[in-house]
Order: sequence, then C-alpha cells, then structure tokens
Amino acid sequence: MKTIELKLGERSYDIHVESGLLKKIPSILADQNHGQKWIIISQYNLMELFGFDLMSKLKKEGFECDYITLPIGEAAKSMNEFSRAISQMIEMKCDRSTTILALGGGVVGDVAGFVASSFMRGIEYYQIPTTLLAMVDSSIGGKTGINIAEGKNLVGSIYQPQGVLIDPAILESLPREEVISGLGEVIKYGAIRDVEFLNNISEWLDDIDSFPFEKAVQRACEIKAEIVSLDEREDGLRKLLNFGHTVGHALEAHLGFGRIRHGEAVLLGMKCAGWISEQLGFLSPLENKSLNKIIDKLTLPNVSKVDPNTILSFVKKDKKVRNGILHFVVLDALGKGNTSELVSETLIMNSLKVIR
Ligand code: GLY
Repeated sequence: MKTIELKLGERSYDIHVESGLLKKIPSILADQNHGQKWIIISQYNLMELFGFDLMSKLKKEGFECDYITLPIGEAAKSMNEFSRAISQMIEMKCDRSTTILALGGGVVGDVAGFVASSFMRGIEYYQIPTTLLAMVDSSIGGKTGINIAEGKNLVGSIYQPQGVLIDPAILESLPREEVISGLGEVIKYGAIRDVEFLNNISEWLDDIDSFPFEKAVQRACEIKAEIVSLDEREDGLRKLLNFGHTVGHALEAHLGFGRIRHGEAVLLGMKCAGWISEQLGFLSPLENKSLNKIIDKLTLPNVSKVDPNTILSFVKKDKKVRNGILHFVVLDALGKGNTSELVSETLIMNSLKVIR
C-alpha cells in the first residue's frame, strides 16, 4: 500500500492508495473505532456496488454502522439534501463522536464533507472516492460545498478529512469512457508540476487498455498533497490546480452540466490555456505542440458550436476572478504552472479557435 502524508500540522492525514484496499478498510480504521456511530454517506447504486459489503465487513469487526443515501448527480448538492442528511443523522442519534465515511464521487464527497464540517460544529470524516476524478482531486484537500440558485459551490468550507482511502481497482467496475475522460485531471498534474510524469502519461496513453491507473493515481495524489500542504487556502500555489478549468468550467456551464464530462472540459480548457501560454511567450511552440499531442491521444468531444461570447460571460463569473482580476493559470514550461493577470478577454475568445 502506498501511503502519502498530506502535511498540515495537527490536521495532517494519510492518503492510502492500493488496489483491493476496500476490503481492508475495517482493519485500516480499527484504531479509530471507539464505539462511536459510523455513517456511510453515499448513493444507493454505490451502496449496492460497494457500500453494503463495506458496511457488513465493518459490522463484523465491531463497528456500529449505518448509511444515508443522496440522489444521483448535482441535485444532491443542494441545501435540501444537506439538511435532509443532517436530520437523518439526528434521527439516527448521531452525536459529536460520530464519524462519516464519504463513499462516492465528487458530489458525495462535497456534500458529506460539508455535513461533517457543520454537524454539531464539526465531526470527523474519511473520504473513500469511487471515481478517477474524486481519487486524484476532489477527495484530497478538504474542499466541501453545495450549490445554491446563484451558483455552484457558493456555500461550503475547507474542512480536512481524517484520511483518504483509495482503491483504484474500483475503476474497473466503472464505464470505460467515464474513467478515460477523468485522465484530463491526471494530465493536468503532469502539466503544472512534473514533466517526467507528463511524459510517462504520454507513453501510457499509447496503450490505453494497459494504462497503469494505480501508479498514475498515486503520483497525482502525491502532487495534490504537496500543493495543498503548501497552500491550503488557495492563496497562491493551489490556484495552479485550476489549469484548464477557466475555459473548462465555462464549457460545462455553456453546454449544460452533464452534457460534457468534467475531465473532457478540462482537456479542452488545457488546449486553450496552452495556446494562451504560447501567445504570451511563456510556453515555447514546441512544448505547446507536445502538450496538444498528449491531449489528442484521448477522444475529445465536438464543441464546434459553442458561442465565444457565452463562454466569455461564464469566464467573467468564475471564482478565479478576484477584485475584478482574472488569475489565469498558464504554463511557463511543461511541468511548470504559473498564474498570469495578463490574459485578456480577447485572448480567451481567440483561444477557442483551437478547440472549435
Ligand atoms: N479541485 C481543486 C482543489 O482542490 O483545489
């Protein structure tokens, strides 16, 4: 088992990555079981796939365990579902010693983390991510949140889990296209922080059926853990994790969430950001070509019909705009991300030509 420490002083925690780890969760958590209630927050389909089995194994080892399900999709990230989960925990007689296990993708992790951060002013929780995106990104770093009518993730907190338990073997039971699209986030880590990893990913993509997910997840988690431990509150370095996300989020918002996968939107967004980095003289044309060659090894959706003005209107609403200034993530070189305040609206509009 690979164990990566996310160093945050007293709030440090371990990220465990190993294929087959799901079966070992009762023994990994045994030391933390002091007779409290353990609540799995998940979705019903995931309970059927993994959760009921996990719950029975935990019970066999003496854990007092119950579960709460959320609806599928973004609908779960609502004030209603948040408050329903809290009420259910009160009915289940949970208290300040209760520990939550967030079993699911980004949506489950965000809601369960927010429930943990606010139930009785904060209780302990673990992330058990079940999608590639959640394994390499959302389960690590403590971002939690829900959506309100005015926008996504406008209510939430940064509240670190006690640990992250990752079983990459889970990916084998997921739709192939879903997993492959998630590689966008993995490529991102290589692009912003580790050119050697980026080159490895490029080689691995030549034989996608043998893609070493466990190795890739481990390295991505190491990079994310390092970045979060250096900048938990996203004052500087953590912003680099938004590489490809400015245009990516705008594409998702424009096309409608669910119409384009997040990983696919990030892949397209990275192409735009690569082009912008080259135009500004940060990234050499050769390096931008290499980045595009890697991204093009994956199947990208057709976005020829997106309207640049609509994309721009979403970019302006983005959370990366602070005090009216957009902190756009660029590449100074492959493996070296940076932020720039020089990225104009025109440049963003023009960059869309590389994906349309
Ligand atoms: N998903 C980006 C971050 O955790 O900062």
